[in-house]
Amino acid sequence: MHPSATPSDPPRPADRHPDVLVVGGGIIGLVTAWRAAGRGLRVAVADPAPGGGAAQVAAGMLAAVTELHYGEETLLGLNLASAQRYPEFTRELEAASGQRIGYRRSGTLQVALDADDRAHLRELHTLQVRCGLDSQWLTGRECRRLEPTLAPGVRGGLRVDGDHQVDPRRLAGALLAACERTGVVFHRTRAERLTTAGGRASGVELPDGTRLSAGQVVLAGGSLSGRLEGVPEAVRPPVRPVKGQVLRLRLPDPPPGGPPFLSRTVRAVVRGNPVYLVPRESGELVLGATTEELGWDTTVTAGGVYELLRDAHELVPGLTELPLTESLAGLRPGSPDNAPLLGPTALPGLHLATGHFRNGVLLTPVTGDVMAELLSTGTVPEAARPFSPARFSPDVQEEQRTRAPEEQPV
Ligand code: GLY
Repeated sequence: MHPSATPSDPPRPADRHPDVLVVGGGIIGLVTAWRAAGRGLRVAVADPAPGGGAAQVAAGMLAAVTELHYGEETLLGLNLASAQRYPEFTRELEAASGQRIGYRRSGTLQVALDADDRAHLRELHTLQVRCGLDSQWLTGRECRRLEPTLAPGVRGGLRVDGDHQVDPRRLAGALLAACERTGVVFHRTRAERLTTAGGRASGVELPDGTRLSAGQVVLAGGSLSGRLEGVPEAVRPPVRPVKGQVLRLRLPDPPPGGPPFLSRTVRAVVRGNPVYLVPRESGELVLGATTEELGWDTTVTAGGVYELLRDAHELVPGLTELPLTESLAGLRPGSPDNAPLLGPTALPGLHLATGHFRNGVLLTPVTGDVMAELLSTGTVPEAARPFSPARFSPDVQEEQRTRAPEEQPV
């Protein structure tokens, strides 16, 4: 926001004509705005509650290694590139905002509770090693030596010291402050409709009929990105909401000179459900998360809470003694291949930064850099090319469908 403006002030004429208009003020929209403003562009953001969105629910695991899945090696490259940027990104953002973001290099332990889990974890370990990642196999006893509150039944695990964490609420607050300090203008309202002129995106219309025009528009609306009116069907992002229920508990103070309740993120797959426990320096323990395809529903359900607590209790039995302070559900922006859509669309002037699915917090630094480079130079950086929105355009999809099997990419 302009330093002298208040949230209820009508936009000043100059605020209505920025170089870049970002639709959506979650962490992806904010990092895009902050980094673009840092390149000297005049940037505005349209969002009724900037700093909100999925980051208010997310656990903040920076889990490039432990969230690796078969067939997602290309995404791994982007995830690693972003994880590597986190230390410098944290320094810059904390300096720009005057706020701490809770970046913690305490590592992750991914454990198995039975023989089947252990076999799956062995396969994941093989894949991690094949991809050149740092992941160490531990016996159950070695896992419990690292984390004594783990259940006695833990059968083995992977120690991944490079999977860190950040506090997504603090991250969102710091990005908002950094944007404000950098002169980003906030329109604290919903964007109703994309406008076009002369065959290119020209801005948005707000619910009160105000038109904001901009040379470039970035659609960064998280799970809502596919719902902006006026976006031509051919370039509408194929993003859907994927619900995640998350609990917050309060950690006990460690005994004087004794170990903390948990010293690192602990995660597992229990009966096919991923469960994770993320201990923060602030004393918060985040327990997540369900993965549910239920449209726009954000109800916290008894069943979701029961399953999270049941699975987490199998991992760390002592957690049922901890105070439960919060239960929330958020919507991940899922894409057809679980990877983000970054870059220009076939409609000139309209760019996408959305579809980050399970990796929005992790991918925040690289997304900011990639989008700022694109917005200020017109060139998509190498790192982002595999994530072009064009991969979902009807023409490309049709070409892939009709390509002979020997021509299919592997
Ligand atoms: N990245 C963790 C989750 O989406 O649940």
